Amino acid sequence: MLAAVEQHSQPAWSPTSWQGLPNAQEIAYPDGAALARAVGELRSLPPLVTSWEIERLRGFLAQAEQGKRFVLQGGDCAESLGECNSATIANKLKILLQMSMVLVHGLKMPILRVGRFAGQYAKPRSSATETRGGVSLPSYFGDLINRPAFDAVSRTPDPALLVQAYQHSALTLNFVRALVEGGFADLHHPEYWDLSFMRHAGLAPALRSEYERMKDSLADGLRFMEALGEKTVDDLTRVEFFTSHEGLNLWYESAQTRPVPRRDGVYNLSAHLPWLGERTRGLGGAHVEYFRGIHNPVGVKLGPSATADEVLALARMLNPGNEAGKLVFVARMGAARVANALPALLQATRAGGVRCLWVCDPMHGNTRTTSSGVKTRSFDDILHELTTSHAVHRQEGVVLGGVHFELTGEDVTECTGGSMGTSEQDLATNYASACDPRLNYQQSLEMAFLIARTFGKR
Ligand code: PEP
Ligand code: CO
Repeated sequence: MLAAVEQHSQPAWSPTSWQGLPNAQEIAYPDGAALARAVGELRSLPPLVTSWEIERLRGFLAQAEQGKRFVLQGGDCAESLGECNSATIANKLKILLQMSMVLVHGLKMPILRVGRFAGQYAKPRSSATETRGGVSLPSYFGDLINRPAFDAVSRTPDPALLVQAYQHSALTLNFVRALVEGGFADLHHPEYWDLSFMRHAGLAPALRSEYERMKDSLADGLRFMEALGEKTVDDLTRVEFFTSHEGLNLWYESAQTRPVPRRDGVYNLSAHLPWLGERTRGLGGAHVEYFRGIHNPVGVKLGPSATADEVLALARMLNPGNEAGKLVFVARMGAARVANALPALLQATRAGGVRCLWVCDPMHGNTRTTSSGVKTRSFDDILHELTTSHAVHRQEGVVLGGVHFELTGEDVTECTGGSMGTSEQDLATNYASACDPRLNYQQSLEMAFLIARTFGKR
């Protein structure tokens, strides 16, 4: 099997060499001419990100591999075109920013913030079709591909959505960049750091005061540095956000894949860090073929069925030069399985001298359905997977360099637990996710404190 993979990696790669290979998430566009027009339009539009930014991210990821930086990746399970608005975007940045401050404080190292935004519009599905009342239609694959309403028109893959989602990604990223440039993260802007911005910011009083103490001590430290040296608070607190999404729809990904001036190689310029999902990481499939040729760092989700041989073959395929900062393995095993499933994979990369960054996604292996049919995740399971993963990495002598969450800055009720005690009965109060359940604002911040405590211990 490995020999076959190596042979397969020989043929010439191009941004479209994936076409014709087995595609685990094939999208059946009924109108080929309309698809070609949409792809042509996407090809002609300017990129969302630059190769300079992507290379900068690679440098940061290389530091994270060595345990010198910690990655916080998070955002919606699926962005929706209808929710591309100022408050939603700003709240998502705020929660990532606030979590990262807690992590900086607890882990005593710089944090790399990677948003699941500005392109996270496509969702893999376990089944290509959905049947209701005897009627079968294509499943909803995210706003990049079709619409959620259960009727034939909404569910037919529509190539015009490729362009619309791209435009909405550009609007999102433009606003993110403007906020960051405008001093969004400056500690002199209390509105971004203040916990009271949430209507129901029901954080436990002890955590609230711990947060306030952290914020004040950080602000004092920065003012002290400012008084001592030439650096302004602005320089010291400048934060960056990188973008990531699952590279599911290869029409979308390859349309924005191009060479850049004065650099070797070809980049996917629709995001800094695209990732391969658990359902599309099959060797010999279209997605791995596409991902092996781009110069971006790439993520790969690994579920509990992943084998050590698969992981090694993926590493050879996606990072043949064994370069630092190029490959991110995102383990999403589930609280009950992580202790058994993860060690062999870590041992394999360590023994093989594989350069890669290991990140824990404690969300996707912990999804369950309540007796009333609601998809949820428990705060305790999520925390349990994180702490177990942390212990397993320690035991295997491999750096755990980051965490990957589905979260939102809104007061949703999608995951149970946390200090507010959200119960299964409470889920109906404000369940807003178009796809998987996310940690809400308070659960996210609380999680950051718990990570800081567990991971910060030497
Ligand atoms: C996701 O990140 O939303 C997702 C579908 O993940 P996975 O591929 O790990 O199931
Ligand atoms: Co998800």
